[in-house]
Amino acid sequence: MDSRQSELARALVEQIEIGVIILDSELRIQYWNNFISQCSGKQLQYALQQHLTRIFPEADTPSLGTMVAQAREQGQHVYTEWRENPYLIHLPYALSGQPSPLMLQNTLLFPFSDMDGQLCFGLLLYDTSEFARSKRQLDAALRALCHKQIEQDQLIKKLEKANAQLLQSEKLAAIGQLAAGVAHEINNPIGYVFSNLKTLAGYVHDLLRIIDAIDGAASLDELRQLKHSLEYDYIRNDVEALIGESEDGIDRVKKIITSLKDFSHIDDDEFRLADLHRGLDSTLNVVNNELKYKAEVVKEYGELPEVECIPSQINQVMMNLLVNAAHAIEQFGRITLRSGQQDDWVWLEVEDSGQGIDPQVLNRIYEPFFTTKPVGKGTGLGLSLSYNIVRKHSGRIEVFSQPGQGARFRVWLPARQPTAEQAQEDAGQHD
Ligand SMILES: Nc1ncnc2c1ncn2[C@@H]1O[C@H](COP(=O)(O)OP(=O)(O)OP(=O)(O)O)[C@@H](O)[C@H]1O
Ligand SMILES: [Mg+2]
Repeated sequence: MDSRQSELARALVEQIEIGVIILDSELRIQYWNNFISQCSGKQLQYALQQHLTRIFPEADTPSLGTMVAQAREQGQHVYTEWRENPYLIHLPYALSGQPSPLMLQNTLLFPFSDMDGQLCFGLLLYDTSEFARSKRQLDAALRALCHKQIEQDQLIKKLEKANAQLLQSEKLAAIGQLAAGVAHEINNPIGYVFSNLKTLAGYVHDLLRIIDAIDGAASLDELRQLKHSLEYDYIRNDVEALIGESEDGIDRVKKIITSLKDFSHIDDDEFRLADLHRGLDSTLNVVNNELKYKAEVVKEYGELPEVECIPSQINQVMMNLLVNAAHAIEQFGRITLRSGQQDDWVWLEVEDSGQGIDPQVLNRIYEPFFTTKPVGKGTGLGLSLSYNIVRKHSGRIEVFSQPGQGARFRVWLPARQPTAEQAQEDAGQHD
């Protein structure tokens, strides 16, 4: 090293904000830089050739012994952090000369040879007070974050609970809506059966009058007269028609009630094998009131095996899709119901000729509360609920739509539910 380089090195060591101490092999002080003078308040000239621990008695610790032994015997660079040993020597001043709170230090002790090949030690002291302070702040921030995390977990639990309650109330609302529709459906046949009964009562009254007259009649002619005046021929024809019509009406009511029973099974939340077409038909019957003024319903059922599912829940999904389809149709359109199977999967599909879905909202339709319907019309929970149900069945929903050209929703379900391990594997693959 030429003298210029030595000067540069010296200037650097003097100005660097790191404590530099050079010790001989017996730990006698040979040199320290400006940083040590300033921060210790001691002068180098009085410390030269003194043992480190004489000038800095606080350094006389077992830990220093271990460091020196490692550096001496194994030739290692030995690094200690303020977290294990807050400081090696006491440096009570800042570089400015102002008293400062205790300086925390990271230290590095390493062996080297001087020009004559004598063993020396370099001891570097880094002021880590600032870092420790920010570290402490970091720790505090971390603790606060942890706390926040716990709060958030609790919040998520609350939200999940609220969500479950919402889904439950959506289910109830759907049932309420259904009940209204069903009431309307039943009202009509009940109405005419009732009015038929009234007419029939009048007819029976007249018929009884004819029969009663048999006993008191003077002649057959008189009876014929009465029969004629009471329009017996007309009654006779009409009675049959009225009874036929009333039977149809009662049949219709019976069918709706059976479908309603099939559809709901609200209490049974168990997976079991079910005929999905039967479920679809009863769902259709139940929502008929919502559909019949909006669309012609076309069934294109394929072959389906029995499917392991919670039938009332799948009915609910199909009901949501059917009602959405009807809502999407402005005047009068067509709703096509299809089904089919592929390998171990089955699918049910609802296609409508309605207004279609804007591509910009296509990825939002399953969000809870997402609705494009006017306030008070849609809650925006139908598809979110359906999505959850289908996921619970390890299935998926696909949607295809072009604005102005209707929409097609396809629900895929595995014919048999996967075992818990399979379900976990699948979930892993999709992550
Ligand atoms: N068949 C469809 N055609 C067009 N848009 C649809 C169709 N199905 C769903 N959507 C869109 O997705 C949105 C969300 O549907 P979802 O069933 O979740 O809620 P909603 O029908 O608005 O209200 P809710 O079902 O709770 O009464 C609808 O508002 C609509 O914009
Ligand atoms: Mg809906």
